[in-house]
Amino acid sequence: MTQAQAIYLKDYLPPAFLIDTTDLVFDLRDHFTEVTATLKVRRNPSASGGGPLVLNGQDMILQSVSVDGQKLSADEYELGPESLTLSVADEATIECVTHIKPHLNKALEGLYQSSGMYCTQCEAEGFRRITYYLDRPDVMSEFTTTIHANETRFPVLLSNGNKIEVGKSAPDRHWVKWHDPFKKPAYLFALVAGDLKSVSDQFKTMSGRVVDLVIYVEEKDLDKCAHAMASLKKAMAWDEDVYGREYDLDLFMIVAVDDFNMGAMENKGLNIFNTSCVLANPATTTDMGYDRVESVVAHEYFHNWSGNRVTCRDWFQLSLKEGFTVFRDSEFSSDMGSRTVKRVEDVKLLRTSQFAEDAGPMSHPVQPQSYIEISNFYTLTVYEKGAEIVRMLHTLLGPELFRKATDYYFETYDGQAVTINEFVHAMEWASGRDLSQFMLWYQHAGTPQVNIDSHYDHQAQQYSITVRQNTSAGKPFHFPLAIGLVDDHGELTSNCTTHTINNGVIEVVNAEETITFEQVQSLPTPSLFRNFSAPVRVNYSYSNDDYARLMEHDGDGFNRWNASQALAVSVMNQIQAGEGVASASADLINAFEKVLTNDALDPAMVALMLTLPSEAYLSEVASIIDVRAIHESRKQLSQHIAETLQKPLLKVYQKSCSKKPYEFDAKSVAERAIKNRALGYLILLDDSNVVSLCTDQYYDQHNMTDSLAALTYLAHAHRESLFEVRDDMLEDFYQRWHHEALVVNLWLSVQATIPSESALATVKGLMEHPSYDALNPNKVRALIGHYSNQNPIGFHNVAGYEFLAQQVIKLDQANPQMAARIVTPLTRYKRYQEREQMGMKSALESIAEVSTLSKDLFEVVSKSLQH
Ligand code: TRP
Ligand code: ZN
Repeated sequence: MTQAQAIYLKDYLPPAFLIDTTDLVFDLRDHFTEVTATLKVRRNPSASGGGPLVLNGQDMILQSVSVDGQKLSADEYELGPESLTLSVADEATIECVTHIKPHLNKALEGLYQSSGMYCTQCEAEGFRRITYYLDRPDVMSEFTTTIHANETRFPVLLSNGNKIEVGKSAPDRHWVKWHDPFKKPAYLFALVAGDLKSVSDQFKTMSGRVVDLVIYVEEKDLDKCAHAMASLKKAMAWDEDVYGREYDLDLFMIVAVDDFNMGAMENKGLNIFNTSCVLANPATTTDMGYDRVESVVAHEYFHNWSGNRVTCRDWFQLSLKEGFTVFRDSEFSSDMGSRTVKRVEDVKLLRTSQFAEDAGPMSHPVQPQSYIEISNFYTLTVYEKGAEIVRMLHTLLGPELFRKATDYYFETYDGQAVTINEFVHAMEWASGRDLSQFMLWYQHAGTPQVNIDSHYDHQAQQYSITVRQNTSAGKPFHFPLAIGLVDDHGELTSNCTTHTINNGVIEVVNAEETITFEQVQSLPTPSLFRNFSAPVRVNYSYSNDDYARLMEHDGDGFNRWNASQALAVSVMNQIQAGEGVASASADLINAFEKVLTNDALDPAMVALMLTLPSEAYLSEVASIIDVRAIHESRKQLSQHIAETLQKPLLKVYQKSCSKKPYEFDAKSVAERAIKNRALGYLILLDDSNVVSLCTDQYYDQHNMTDSLAALTYLAHAHRESLFEVRDDMLEDFYQRWHHEALVVNLWLSVQATIPSESALATVKGLMEHPSYDALNPNKVRALIGHYSNQNPIGFHNVAGYEFLAQQVIKLDQANPQMAARIVTPLTRYKRYQEREQMGMKSALESIAEVSTLSKDLFEVVSKSLQH
């Protein structure tokens, strides 16, 4: 093991030096890149003491270092494995020349190559692989970047800010100089060089400035840029309307790269995107893909204010930019499409994956107190739970005061590197509230549990609800509880005598509170945590009748969906306990039929309500995960739904079949969603007519959403009579799309998730397929990630665990960030039955035995084994 030292928030000290300007010259050569960095440094007036200048650096070959024009000899500086130490006066100009090898960089951090082009990824600590630097977000500098390269192979040379000069240095070499007028931390630096083509447009800002917008891609992808461009323009307009934030440079660029560890990166003026988050067209991209492009383009754009103009003091404040920006992009998507659908999708992710993370070995507060490797903290907790916390502030303050707070925040802290405290302070300033109790949300790890009891006194017409928080945090949380009372006619009117209700929201601050309603004429069903008003686990004993009532009469769309899911969980639990499917599911079938035949409902919501909770979610809510019992009960219930609701399902399918050209708008997306939801059930019937519907839909190739749904449902039905049709379809799909990397990834995922004991053999076979690339993160996620996260029956056995451990060990040599992510399923062993626990644990132990583990993987594996 390399040194695995934890870094603590409590140890934060301001930097000893500041870097006023950073001048970089890159000479891109075939076997190395030479980087010349000229830094104007001075002692930080607000740091105490003298001491040397300690620069961060990793994996570089130092060629020379000079201070104020004087080249240093080897005894005048100290070179460590991850640092360069110099003694300098109060002000100096440092010039450092380093050589790096981008073509050998498979970690995809720092400067690397992807499909022949050069690109960078500097967040969080990648810049220190480019040159020696104070690589920390509270050191903000003005950057000038010059790039020299071969002109034919790298005609496009990009960096942050504005292009200020170009020239030729040899017959075959050219250079371009960029200057970014905004001071920024090194993690926002970017460089791109390649043979790229582009799509351009313009946006006129609210003050009338014209901004050039350019998306750079490989030539073959020029036909997949329109949706990202449209999304970008919408996002720019939305940030002006909703937050009063205008773009600040005259140029905004996006570059698409094939090899990327995450979704995308908000580098100032030059966002770099995973191709999967920017490219889209109807033939190759599903509705889910369109959604993702829209939200990621917006997310990265919004970072220009929440992240770049106001940045983080240190990486413990990561959620300052990420939680806030996820909240912003989620509101944007809600305004562009269907608000309730977006809320359901976000909450599904939170409750399935963030809750599981928070119950596992890597559980951490939204503001972590320590880390070994910061890359391991780009988590669902920091992003999604962080966004839920911002949403609660929005709910507590209301939109006007929230906006007043964000105006204050952006104006007061513009150009600064700040902490989560400054953000909450802005909320306090705008509202005049004391939010000190609310801070617990940032500080405490784990999901709070809220237990609720109710009592109805018919005589007094009084209904009361008692809310008890499980105070494992030592103190109670402050949260908004959106609430309503529902009877068979809908919303029940009543009068709350104990609490103020603001827009349907009560504020809870005590460990135990009783909320009393008067003039309640009949026994109501409480609709609790409407719109998921706080990220908690709720425990209230509803009957199946209550769920059915909420599904039909709740005024809150989110809670109608929530009731459908809770009812399904309860039915599957009954099936697992041995009850026959027909009797266990009678209420559910009845409720599903009502939903299916109610023309007044949004078809997108109907599709969501009719979708049974995933096996991952059922596992999350189980006390001990019985992989096979969960799978079996879900399968039986699906089959029974298909059989009993065959007629209305077929009707809905036929009604929603449209031959219109593909459009990505809420209405068309909803129509495809309900149609495909119906098909997913119908294909479970042993009925040749349905098989024809399905194959027709596939071979029609009307759009990727419909083709892929047909292929997926048919393959996942996993019935012997369908194997031949399935294999033909899979073959056809590959032949059609082998030249489209992102589509091939869909093809890999469909096969990796066929629920079968033979899944491992399929996955191993596909790893040998010419289309597979074990170093491309999208391919690894598509095949190994889908197999281990979304195929419980195929994955959860000793062979599956050993396979994953081997893949993790291999990948760690090349790409530690990815290795530490794909190991996740093994780390959750505690939640499983004995046999699985043992298998997963010994797979983890086999990883821990490797002597050369990266910090990334070491942190995850050692914390898991200590858990
Ligand atoms: N800041 C990026 C975002 O918008 C996250 C990110 C992109 C990232 N690439 C990364 C984080 C590489 C760590 C490593 O969410
Ligand atoms: Zn982000």
